[in-house]
Amino acid sequence: MNIISCKQFEKREDIQDIFDITEKLSLRLAHMNCHWLASPILWNKTMASLFYEPSTRTRFSFETAMHRLGGNVISTENASQFSSHAKGESLEDTLAVIGRYADVIVLRHPDREAAYIADRCAKVPVINAGNGDGEHPTQALLDVFTIQKSLGSVDNKKIVLAGDLKYGRTIHSLIHLLSLYDNINLHLVSPVDLSLSNEYKDICKNKGIKFTEWQSLKECLSNNSVDVIYMTRIQKERHETLTQRLRTYPESWKLGETEFNMSGEAVIMHPLPRNDEINSCVDQSKRALYFTTQIDCGIAIRAGLLYSILFERN
Ligand code: NCD
Repeated sequence: MNIISCKQFEKREDIQDIFDITEKLSLRLAHMNCHWLASPILWNKTMASLFYEPSTRTRFSFETAMHRLGGNVISTENASQFSSHAKGESLEDTLAVIGRYADVIVLRHPDREAAYIADRCAKVPVINAGNGDGEHPTQALLDVFTIQKSLGSVDNKKIVLAGDLKYGRTIHSLIHLLSLYDNINLHLVSPVDLSLSNEYKDICKNKGIKFTEWQSLKECLSNNSVDVIYMTRIQKERHETLTQRLRTYPESWKLGETEFNMSGEAVIMHPLPRNDEINSCVDQSKRALYFTTQIDCGIAIRAGLLYSILFERN
């Protein structure tokens, strides 16, 4: 099984299965009261992390998950520079070779197409850890898992998605997953030229997600009570005319102290890394999940995925 796009999850049971495996696995490891390394469920398996773009959390949490399951990890953190890509090797050739070393490949690449090339040609399972401005399916899985764990369910939730909705791949994957739940209301808050593309607005319309667009978070919060505020940074590396554009971006979509005080009981989420879109005064709040529940759910979900790909389905 490859994990390439959240489009591949067609009904909510598909992701609930992953959540159930994740919960069971976490419980099993907790009951064994062991250091995860003492429970070598994947002792004879190797994961390759092949990252052509920077990453902190995604790569480390995959690697942590694999270590905790007793598996082995081979890794290149800057494949553009330190793999044979720098010598002109194609992705197909690299995958053919790594597929002889590893049982699963976790791939991050700046091109949207890369995940689909891997889907077609890799001889071992591939997990897409971010394909350009396309998708980031495992982030969306951990985000929905975080919402379910923190709020009890995902149905009927009012969710603010703020920041770079145009280029943010975590937003794209999240919308696919949220479309599997009932009565989702999205409040889309972004600078006008970073608003959600028509492709994703059409998905919302076709899948019954209601959405309203705002340019000011304050205005959005003064008119609505919401359950989740999901912030994202501006994806500077994907903007061609960066300097000129950044100068013109209004600040009104950011979560400052005033907006936080207006946000009622909403939980605050962020895939990280943060730039300055969430004021650091929010960090200590129990409602801020980006340094706590989201991180823990990231390891758990990735362990659940690795386990189901490498162990359960064997
Ligand atoms: C995100 C990504 O790489 O898309 N980070 C992550 O994996 N947690 C978000 C981002 O880079 O802004």
